[in-house]
Amino acid sequence: MSESIPVSELTEDAAQAELARLAVEIAKANQLYHAEDAPEISDAEYDALKRRNAEIEGQFPHLKRNDSPSEQVGARAADGFSKVTHAVRMMSLGNAFDDEDVADFDRSIRKYLGLTDDAALAFTAEPKIDGLSLSLRYEQGKLVQAATRGDGEVGENVTANALTMSDIPQQIKDAPDVLEVRGEVYMSHADFDALNARQTETGGKTFANPRNAAAGSLRQLDSSITRARPLRFFAYAWGEISAPLADTQMEAIQRLKSFGFQINDLTRLCENTQQMLEHYRDIEAQRATLGYDIDGVVYKVNDLALQARLGFRSTTPRWAIAHKFPAELAWTRLEAIDIQVGRTGALSPVARLHPVTVGGVVVSNATLHNEDYIKGRDAKGGLIRDGKDIRVGDWVQVYRAGDVIPKLSDVDLSKRPEGAEPYDFPTKCPQCGSEAIREDGDAVRRCTGGLICPAQAVEKLKHFVSRKAFDIEGLGAKQIEMFYDDPVLPINAPADIFTLQTRDAANLARLKNRDGWGETSASNLFSAIDEKRAIPFARLLFALGIRHVGEVGARDLALYYRDWDVMAQAIDTARPAAVAHRKADEAEEAERLAATEENRRARIKEAREAAMVALDVPAEATAAWSDLTGIDGIGATLGLSLSDAFANADERAAFDMLRSHLQVIAPDAPSEDSPVAGKTVVFTGTLEKMTRAEAKARAEALGAKVSGSVSQKTDLLVAGPGAGSKAKKAADLGIETLDEDGWLQLIGDA
Ligand code: IVH
Repeated sequence: MSESIPVSELTEDAAQAELARLAVEIAKANQLYHAEDAPEISDAEYDALKRRNAEIEGQFPHLKRNDSPSEQVGARAADGFSKVTHAVRMMSLGNAFDDEDVADFDRSIRKYLGLTDDAALAFTAEPKIDGLSLSLRYEQGKLVQAATRGDGEVGENVTANALTMSDIPQQIKDAPDVLEVRGEVYMSHADFDALNARQTETGGKTFANPRNAAAGSLRQLDSSITRARPLRFFAYAWGEISAPLADTQMEAIQRLKSFGFQINDLTRLCENTQQMLEHYRDIEAQRATLGYDIDGVVYKVNDLALQARLGFRSTTPRWAIAHKFPAELAWTRLEAIDIQVGRTGALSPVARLHPVTVGGVVVSNATLHNEDYIKGRDAKGGLIRDGKDIRVGDWVQVYRAGDVIPKLSDVDLSKRPEGAEPYDFPTKCPQCGSEAIREDGDAVRRCTGGLICPAQAVEKLKHFVSRKAFDIEGLGAKQIEMFYDDPVLPINAPADIFTLQTRDAANLARLKNRDGWGETSASNLFSAIDEKRAIPFARLLFALGIRHVGEVGARDLALYYRDWDVMAQAIDTARPAAVAHRKADEAEEAERLAATEENRRARIKEAREAAMVALDVPAEATAAWSDLTGIDGIGATLGLSLSDAFANADERAAFDMLRSHLQVIAPDAPSEDSPVAGKTVVFTGTLEKMTRAEAKARAEALGAKVSGSVSQKTDLLVAGPGAGSKAKKAADLGIETLDEDGWLQLIGDA
C-alpha cells in the first residue's frame, strides 16, 4: 500500500492520491475527536498521519491541497499553533440585510435604553472588511501576543506571524498597560493578484480570493512565509483594556490611530438612520475601487457608556450590527463554454452561465482563463478547486470581487449531471480552423492562423484604430466590425483603411447611401483618416498589435532606432540570432527536464551553449540581437515576438503595405546642445537622487539612448553603489564611467 512507501520514493501520482487519502483520514479523525468526542485512533497515530502529510507536502509543494490538513483549524493544539483563550470573547456581528433591518436595529436599541424616538443616538458607520479578525495584546506598550478569533473563546497563537506585518506596531506609546487591539487582517486586490502570479510562477498553490489568501498566509507555521506575504491590518475594536481609551467609539478609534494603527478612513459619525443609510450607499458605490474586499458596513453606537449598558447577547453585541452588501458569491448552472479568439490568437474559454445575481450585478459570463484552469490545474500543474474540473452542465459557484471579471470558484460535484463529459478543449481555431497550439510553458493555446484568422484580423484592426494607436475619429470597434469582410468596401488589413477613399467611385457612393452614413459622415471619416497619414513612429509600432509590444516597448524601440526602416533592417539582421536564441531556450528547457544529477546547472548551461555554437550565427546578427534586446525595457521575449512578426511573410507584407501609405514621424530630435545627445547610456547600481525611471526619462529627454546592458556601443556607464558586473565589463571595454553626481554635473542638473 502506498502509505508504507517512503515519501522520497513516491511518484507524483501516488503522492497526490496519498494526500487525498490523508486529507480524508485526518478530517475524519478531527471530526471524531473534536465534534464527537470519540476518537478512533491514538494521538500517536494521528500525529503520524499529520507528519506524513507534511512530509509529502514538503516534497511536492505544488500538490498541496486547498483543504490541506496542515492548514486547518480544528487541528489538535499540540500539532499546530498553541491555543490562546481570549481574555474578552471575540464576538461576531448580527446582520442587517435591508434598510428596514437597520431601522429595527435603531428602534431596538432605543427600546433597550428607554430612549424616545427623538432622543439623540449617534452611530459610527465603517466598511466591514472581508478578511479575518485578529486580536493583538499589548502589555506596557509591547506586543506580547497575537491570536486569531477561533471559535471566539479560544483562538490560535499567531504572534510570530503578526510580528512580520508592517501594519502592526510592535511597540506603542502612551497606551494603557494592558490593551488588546482588534481588527481585520486582509490582502489588497493588487497584492492578491501579484501573490497568485508569483505562486503560479513558482508552482505554489493559488488562492481563490483575497480572504483565503490572507487566512492562508496568516496561518502559516513558518513565519518566514507570512513575512513574504503582503498582509495588512485595519484596527476597529479592542478587547481587554486596563483603562478606557475614550468616551466615544470615534475617539477611541482615533486613539488607535495615534498608536500607529491603520484605521479605515471611510469611518463616519452618523446622527440618525438616514445618515447611516446614506453612508452605506456611499461606501457601496466606492466598493469596486477601494482596492480591497469589503462585504458590508458596520454600525456601532458611538457613546461607549451606552455600549456598556447595551452589552452582548450570546455571540453578538447589542450595540453593533453589520449591514451586508448583496452576496458576491452565487451558484448557478454552467450552460456552455465558448471559445473567444483574441488579437494575438489566444483561445480564451468563456463560461456562459444561467444568469445569476452576484453582488447586485447580473452575471451571465465568467472567464475560464485557459484549458488547464478548466481541468482544475494551475499553470504549473498544481491543483485549483481541489482539482475539480469544470464541465458543461455543472453547478458552479460564481465569485465577483469589485469590478473584476467574474470567476468560477467552485464546482458542486454532487450536482453534476449524469453523463457530463470532461471539456474537450479545441486544438483547432474555432474561427478559422487553423491549428491551435501551446508553446512550451505557455498556459494559453493560440491560433496559428495569423491574419488569415478572421477573429485575429478583426481584433488586430480594432486595436489598430484604438485610442492609443491610430485613434481615427469615426472609425471605432463598431465600424471595424461593419467594414471587415464587407462585400463592397472591405477593410481586412490596416492598409485598407488608407485606400478606402480611392476605391471605386460607385462603391463610395454606396457607402454614402448606407445606414448611418451620409455625405458628411463619409467625408468626415476620410478627413479623419487623412489626418493620421503622418503618424509618430511609436504609435505606428504599437498599433501593429505585435504580441508583447505594448505602448512602452514601442516607445523605447522608437527612441532607440529613431527611423522605421533602420529598425526593420536591424530586426532582419538580428533574425538568425533570434532563431538561435529560441533553439537555445528549447535545448536548455529539454536539459532542464532531463538533467537530474548534481551538476545540473552546468549541464543546462552547456546545452544552451552547444545549441548556440551548432547554429553558427553570424557576428553581425549576434550584435544586432544584443543591441535590440539590450535596450532598456526590451528583453528576449519582446525581441523574439518582434522578430517573428517581421519574419512572417504575410505580416511583413501587411506592415510594408501600410508603411507605403504613411509618413512616419521620428521621435523629437535630441537637443543639439545636450552633452549626451545621441550617446548610449547604461545605468547600474543604486541611484540615490532619482529613481531609475526618472534617470531614464531625463536621459532620453536629453537625446541619449538608454540601454540595459553594456556593450561596445555603450558610451557612458553611470554607476551607483553596488554596481557589479556591468561596471567591470565597462572597465574592461574602456568605457567612460561616472557616479551619480558626475552624471548630474555632466547634464547640468547638479
Ligand atoms: S466590529 C464586537 N468592525 O466581521 C464587535 N468587525 O461578522 C467586533 N469585521 O468578527 C467586530 N470589519 O472579523 C467590526 N469594521 C469592522 C469589521 C468587523 C470586519 C469582521 C470581524 C467580525 C466579523 C463579524
